[in-house]
Amino acid sequence: MIKFKNVTKRYGDKTVVDNISFEINEGEFFVIIGPSGSGKTTTLKMINRLIPLSEGFIYFKGKPVSDYKLDEMRWDIGYVLQQIALFPHMTIKENISQVPLMKKYKQERIDKDAVTLLNMVGLPSDDFLNRYPDELSGGQKQRVGVVRALMADPPIILMDEPFSALDPISREKLQDDLIRLQSEIKKTIIFVTHDISEALKLGDRICLMNKGKIEQIGTPESFINTPNNDFVKTFMGNAVQTERYARNIMRNINVETTAVVAPDASLQDVYKLLVEHAYIAVIEHETQIGVISRADVLQQLSQEAM
Ligand SMILES: Nc1ncnc2c1ncn2[C@@H]1O[C@H](COP(=O)(O)OP(=O)(O)O)[C@@H](O)[C@H]1O
Ligand SMILES: [Mg+2]
Repeated sequence: MIKFKNVTKRYGDKTVVDNISFEINEGEFFVIIGPSGSGKTTTLKMINRLIPLSEGFIYFKGKPVSDYKLDEMRWDIGYVLQQIALFPHMTIKENISQVPLMKKYKQERIDKDAVTLLNMVGLPSDDFLNRYPDELSGGQKQRVGVVRALMADPPIILMDEPFSALDPISREKLQDDLIRLQSEIKKTIIFVTHDISEALKLGDRICLMNKGKIEQIGTPESFINTPNNDFVKTFMGNAVQTERYARNIMRNINVETTAVVAPDASLQDVYKLLVEHAYIAVIEHETQIGVISRADVLQQLSQEAM
């Protein structure tokens, strides 16, 4: 879907992206992670030509991005930023309809997509379509940003730290919703973050950058089991260590599941059940007190790998 071939970006004699090559597959959730200044945003923006590259090639569906018209790129590649900018004098419906209108989609289709997508990201359309941006919380605005990016039905969506300004609870919820949304709409998503937990939770594959270079690319499991070098190990080990009981891994989200464990169940017991169940409920005194997913266990293991 997207291929980087020996891509370099320089500002003057400063190299900020240094000869990187990799491929992103169709339908993949691809996470780019790294410390501040490592070149993540630059890498992302070179894809939709917001930043021109200095050397090398980026191919989109087999064709160099430089062969596409700029408008074409902007419309066919959705883009979600850390602080999404909505037009304050327009309703949510008007805000998310701008690009589809420019693309001359029929009003009927735009209306239908607006309703479907808002409901999908947990913003009931009856309530939200006619609200104005200042009547929304930060988390709700980010959700609108995701909907706006999806309205033009682009095959690819670029997301640059879209949840990093949110409180931890809204952030977890948006991550969960994005995972669900991705499984329904099957887009290629390229997601930049500097948070390793977020990367492990969301990514089909992760690309770890450092000083403009790629330190490692692979599945979350491979980062935990076979880190390439000390930089990768250290980067993975930033989170705190906790004890290996279900209660320390669970999260408080609302998902239906048929498998259950007690709060003091071991990580091993939990993991066995996760082979067949996407989520496991943690039950104490006949009440569900939390839920564990595979990503939660991976996150725990990554913290211990150090
Ligand atoms: N327009 C610019 N001119 C000069 N240096 C820049 C410019 N934009 C970004 N940089 C530098 O490029 C490096 C990578 O930036 P960026 O891709 O934004 O990093 P990240 O998103 O990983 O934090 C940083 O050192 C940054 O200061
Ligand atoms: Mg950045």
